[in-house]
Amino acid sequence: MKDKKVPVITIDGPSGAGKGTITQMLAIDLQWNILDSGALYRTLAYLMVQNEIDLLHFEENKEFVKEKFIVKFDPGIIGEPVRVVLNGEDITNKVRTEEIAKKTSFLAADPIIRHFIKPCQREFMKPPGLIADGRDMGTVIFKEAMHKFFLTASLEERAKRRQVQLKRQGSEVNMRLLLQELEDRDKKDIERQHSPLRPATNSVIIDTSNLTPEGVVEEIKKNL
Ligand code: DC
Repeated sequence: MKDKKVPVITIDGPSGAGKGTITQMLAIDLQWNILDSGALYRTLAYLMVQNEIDLLHFEENKEFVKEKFIVKFDPGIIGEPVRVVLNGEDITNKVRTEEIAKKTSFLAADPIIRHFIKPCQREFMKPPGLIADGRDMGTVIFKEAMHKFFLTASLEERAKRRQVQLKRQGSEVNMRLLLQELEDRDKKDIERQHSPLRPATNSVIIDTSNLTPEGVVEEIKKNL
């Protein structure tokens, strides 16, 4: 298969572990392609909402969705979300709403949706290489990846990071609520039947709680 030789680095882990920033930094540094699989699920949710397609009617609308689901990622600016472009339109901010996050979490648990999105994810594997960020990149989607990393951090640290991010976007946030939301999302990701969040057996696990982003990149590069 022609795509076999494209090198892939997978970066999995829970929300707030630093996957997005690290993926951006590595992609810019290595000049490789990015797959932000969380954003891909969010984009699919957005497309379905826009076209009023619910999960029950997904199968009969699959061809229509496939035609419209032309997604590109741009690493953008470090510290800001990876830019998401759907059919030429920058929808980065549109997929980062609470409404889309909720819908995405529901859709991402469904095997029909995961089955549909798998080949879309593999299409990002193009030369000179791919950095794939998600929950099941190393365990399911790119099992053959040469380098697999699993980033983690304490719940408190992840909530703090999310708080800083939201404040930067102008939203005031309640820390207790943030902790609760993260805990709920972790539970859902870890306990779901299809592609649960867990480190790949051959992955390097990095606790980012006390590391700077540069420190994490350094740690990753030591293992390449
Ligand atoms: O990382 P994120 O918050 O953008 O992810 C959005 C949702 O997609 C979240 O509910 C987890 C889910 N997701 C998934 O199930 N598998 C992935 N590979 C990436 C994200």
